[in-house]
Amino acid sequence: MRILGIETSCDETGVAIYDSERGIIAEKLYSQINLHRKFGGVIPELASRDHAKRLTQMTRDMLKEGGMGIRDVEAIAYTSGPGLIGALMVGSAFANSLALRYGLNTIPIHHMEGHLLAPLIENKNIKFPFLALLVSGGHTLLVHVVSYRNYRIVGQTIDDAVGECFDKVARMLGLDYPGGPAIDINARVGDRKAFKFPRPMLRQGLDFSFSGLKTAVKYEIQKHSQEAIKDKGLMSDICASFQEAAVETLVYKCRQACKQLGVTQLVMAGGVAANSRLREMISGIDEKVEVFFPSPKLCTDNGSMIAFAGYMRLQHDFLRQPIPSPRPRWSLEELTYEDA
Ligand code: KG4
Ligand code: ZN
Repeated sequence: MRILGIETSCDETGVAIYDSERGIIAEKLYSQINLHRKFGGVIPELASRDHAKRLTQMTRDMLKEGGMGIRDVEAIAYTSGPGLIGALMVGSAFANSLALRYGLNTIPIHHMEGHLLAPLIENKNIKFPFLALLVSGGHTLLVHVVSYRNYRIVGQTIDDAVGECFDKVARMLGLDYPGGPAIDINARVGDRKAFKFPRPMLRQGLDFSFSGLKTAVKYEIQKHSQEAIKDKGLMSDICASFQEAAVETLVYKCRQACKQLGVTQLVMAGGVAANSRLREMISGIDEKVEVFFPSPKLCTDNGSMIAFAGYMRLQHDFLRQPIPSPRPRWSLEELTYEDA
């Protein structure tokens, strides 16, 4: 069985084919980063237009490179939320038109479920139940994945998402958008102990808060001149000290959650899961806990995770529901009650 996956929730256009026997057999990804960089963040209207401009040709090229035609596909999975509404509408309209033309089923997918299940594409040793840390530009979630479509959010941010915090700190430092990778690279040569930034909400349950950390970094930056900041040493020390505080908080909460829930597998997902310090620190979290990371290209937005989530859904025969409209806001927990 082959599923076409389409991702357009934000600033990446992703298309891919998941084959139930062979895994991901074709994929294409286009990042709009250069389009949005000069604005320091994603401009929704530009994002929608660019998805519309590229989707048809990318899908055609991907099928051709994979030696297939659209008739070799059994169903079309597409991201139907959460995300930028215009961008979601483009993907949904494209998927549903294609499906209508070729008589295929469409499978609307929750973007975060795509991230959550992505590590399973590469690793067959991951078994339900497990704990997932979903860390992206819009979300910071600790999810107890009890079984397929039984997702319990046990911790989440009460303010900024951790990826958003990386992006904002990078902006204050004059680094390019998206800020996460830029901070990660600068931090490698910096001193993690140069500045003592707060480890937010370490003692208070499993929820996160990153706005205090962001403000503390802002005050530190304000103490220095622009020239001093541009000095490589200071820049990398701020990056390293900030990253250490953010990552330490994530790791601490993961350890607490594993203990509380008694889970022995921890799955990392979302763009921030590509962070090198997080990967390093989380591996030593607890000797009883096995940690799984998807490869970096599966951490950030892509069509493969949507195609795979579509395949999982077909396996569980949840196509009885009417096709929902794209939703900019949509909790993962709703999936449990909607379909299971
Ligand atoms: O999952 P994703 O590609 O898109 C969303 O759904 O948000 O995540 C993007 C986020 C951005 O905030 C970006 O700065 C962050 O992931 N990110 C990183 C790294 N690579 C991407 N954050 C820290 N370290 C990285 N290496
Ligand atoms: Zn994402």
